[in-house]
Amino acid sequence: MNIIETPNENSFSEEVMKFFLTFLQKNNNPLLTLPTGTTPLPFYKKISEEYKDNKELNKFTYLSLDEYYGLEQEDKRLFANWLDREILSTLEVPSTRRITIDSSCENVQEHCLKLEKKINMHGNIDLAIIGLGNNGHIGFNEPGSDLNSRTRKVHLTKETIAANAVYWGSLERVPKSAITLGIGTLKEAKHTLLLARGFGKAKILRDTFKLSISNKVPSTYLQEQRNLTIIADTDALSMMHT
Ligand code: GLP
Repeated sequence: MNIIETPNENSFSEEVMKFFLTFLQKNNNPLLTLPTGTTPLPFYKKISEEYKDNKELNKFTYLSLDEYYGLEQEDKRLFANWLDREILSTLEVPSTRRITIDSSCENVQEHCLKLEKKINMHGNIDLAIIGLGNNGHIGFNEPGSDLNSRTRKVHLTKETIAANAVYWGSLERVPKSAITLGIGTLKEAKHTLLLARGFGKAKILRDTFKLSISNKVPSTYLQEQRNLTIIADTDALSMMHT
């Protein structure tokens, strides 16, 4: 496990950018996930700016990490649309290089199986870039998720619905269920990059690496994850040594 500590927002985005660029240089059309949430936003801003001078920055295939369930394709709340606004459209990532979760799919099980097949056909996830929920969720794998779970429909906890309400203005606007890549699916990623910023993440970041591995805190699976890099600011890392 490699930890890169950054003192501020600017150095955070620079370090993530450096990691990303090196990864693209070493891998041909890697399959990667991108998280939503506020944590990665400075990086998305940075890469969007740098793209003007380096058109190679879009040479990857985007794979949805998680998605609210039951929304129409045009809905602003869809994570695919969120990421489109924040990074994918600026980087001009074509639809042929976007593997997305269909929020309105009727046969969920079949859809999830198809996604898993697409991941396999690509030779697996090359780089899972992930954020960390306050309760240790990764993607939308909430506490209680089987640590070998595959891509599936899940119900969101009250805590996650409340945390997500800040994005959409009210609790009512947050869908109650979602489709997420499973922990078992994410475990197979060849490389993982965990992003964390702020004091708010200090406790869960410590728990992730200090508690014993269990589905009570799904992110604890990361203790055994191969090729794991953490890029986090000093605030988020402040409890790691306590
Ligand atoms: C959401 C997303 C996660 C993300 C988490 C943390 O629940 N489904 O993928 O990692 O929020 O968000 P933030 O970075 O805003 O703390």
